[in-house]
Amino acid sequence: MANVVRDPREHQDAIIPDLSKADPLVHFSKDDIAFVYGSIWKQRYFKKAGDDYFPFPVQWDVTHKMWRPYFVKNGTDWWAALYAPDNFQRPTGPLCDGCHSVNYDINTKTVTEWNVGCERCHGPGSEHVKQRTRETIVNPARLDYVHANDTCIQCHSQGRPPNNPIDGRYFDWPVGFHMGLNLADFWRLESYRLGETSFTHFPDATAHKNRMQGNDFVQSLMYNRGVVGFSCHDVHGTRNAAQLREPPGEMCFACHGPNTQNGPRSASIEEHTHHKAGSMGSQCVACHMPRIEETISDVNVHAHTFRFITPAETDAYKIPNACNICHGDKSTEWAGAALKSWRDRSPWRMDN
Ligand code: HEC
Ligand code: HEC
Ligand code: HEC
Ligand code: HEC
Ligand code: HEC
Ligand code: HEC
Repeated sequence: MANVVRDPREHQDAIIPDLSKADPLVHFSKDDIAFVYGSIWKQRYFKKAGDDYFPFPVQWDVTHKMWRPYFVKNGTDWWAALYAPDNFQRPTGPLCDGCHSVNYDINTKTVTEWNVGCERCHGPGSEHVKQRTRETIVNPARLDYVHANDTCIQCHSQGRPPNNPIDGRYFDWPVGFHMGLNLADFWRLESYRLGETSFTHFPDATAHKNRMQGNDFVQSLMYNRGVVGFSCHDVHGTRNAAQLREPPGEMCFACHGPNTQNGPRSASIEEHTHHKAGSMGSQCVACHMPRIEETISDVNVHAHTFRFITPAETDAYKIPNACNICHGDKSTEWAGAALKSWRDRSPWRMDN
């Protein structure tokens, strides 16, 4: 998270695509770019005009190595209709920078630091520098589970400030919040209505958009039981994918195992998953965190509700289910019937 926003003049390697190759979508050159955002899934480019930054209307799809248009259409985000339909009239200050920097000041349009610096999660640090004790710094590990999770939810969520517009502008991030304060006073998670698809949610309240790990996770039983974002991710960096504390195949076993109190309630893992040990279909995340939340094109990130979405829900609400994502050549009836033949699974819960 420390390298999201980069100045290509300081970091020669920041721009992933080769801009010297002509592309009908691209109408700018390297010298026009003041900032580059992103490197994992997608990369966007910004020009400076006055004291604001604006996104060029294209983005690089890192996975497919190709250019795609970038424009937030009406109906795909709540603020789209409130801004002119032109990227160069949509400044990053109100729409982006609050989450991609430390202390973005909405009046001076300056930051203490770009990217997710220490103070975003540990609160203001100047007192701590003067007096290095536990009392002068926020350690998320010592907060209650609600505020500990808010360390991540402040950025990893879709929502709006309750007091929009602020000074005549609509903001898409929790203006005024810093660690030590109560996030809910500065941020409302995007609401949903069961049974309806919105620009953020499937009809069962699972997110279908990226950057909604928080919206998902607060609905989960794990959240209620006090599990926090940093139970699984060490944001200071690890050698594993997604900054996981353990390799992906082992992470869940920190708290789960056959017949343990947290489940699953079966004699062995294979008995629970009904797939061979080592099969793709035996990984916990395959069924409990399917990749159904779109970040760009067909590139999706993992759901964080940990709920199992049934094939029946796919039929009723068009929510993708894990079984048919892998078994793409099979019908939902096939998957539903297979699940019902798994005697340790409640047939009553699989019907809907
Ligand atoms: C995205 C949020 C985030 C950022 C950014 C972050 N931290 Fe942390 N930090 C945490 C969380 C959560 C914990 C508690 C869990 C843990 O130890 O990982 C923590 C714990 C720590 C601890 C351990 C405290 C103890 O009592 O053991 C230290 C030291 C620390 N962070 C220093 C830093 C420094 C220095 C930076 C900047 C280079 C930084 N952190 C950036 C979230 C963050
Ligand atoms: C200030 C905003 C901010 C905060 C606070 C924050 N994140 Fe992030 N996070 C980001 C951004 C932006 C990215 C995209 C990183 C990139 O493109 O390099 C990201 C990426 C990630 C990723 C994906 C990294 C990868 O390599 O795939 C994980 C996992 C993650 N964050 C976990 C957390 C957790 C856990 C917390 C809370 C302890 C947290 N984040 C707090 C902004 C934030
Ligand atoms: C509420 C906080 C928030 C706001 C507002 C926000 N972002 Fe992000 N952004 C994140 C987080 C968190 C991630 C990583 C998690 C994810 O994408 O699921 C991210 C990811 C990204 C990525 C992908 C990074 C990669 O490495 O692939 C890009 C590009 C990006 N943001 C650009 C923008 C732009 C441009 C805006 C404004 C139009 C914006 N963001 C607004 C929090 C935010
Ligand atoms: C830090 C510990 C911890 C980790 C790590 C963890 N879990 Fe959990 N999980 C729990 C607890 C606690 C519960 C609640 C158990 C209960 O109260 O019955 C739970 C419950 C669940 C449930 C049942 C949810 C429901 O609604 O019935 C599922 C599914 C689940 N976890 C999946 C996972 C997966 C998949 C992973 C790995 C990606 C994982 N868990 C990692 C602690 C953890
Ligand atoms: C092939 C799909 C699949 C895989 C893989 C899978 N699960 Fe499940 N899991 C389910 C289904 C289906 C349910 C029942 C959901 C319901 O009743 O709503 C379930 C329920 C659970 C529950 C709650 C009920 C119980 O039995 O305790 C937990 C906890 C759980 N799984 C954990 C895990 C863990 C940990 C892993 C990885 C070892 C895993 N699951 C792998 C499909 C899977
Ligand atoms: C991540 C991919 C993945 C997911 C998710 C997944 N499977 Fe599988 N499944 C496989 C693979 C690979 C096999 C091949 C045999 C093996 O590895 O166990 C398989 C085999 C099977 C088989 C036996 C072989 C056959 O074709 O008759 C059935 C039945 C099955 N899966 C049902 C399900 C159901 C039901 C779900 C959802 C609860 C599910 N699978 C989820 C990958 C997956």
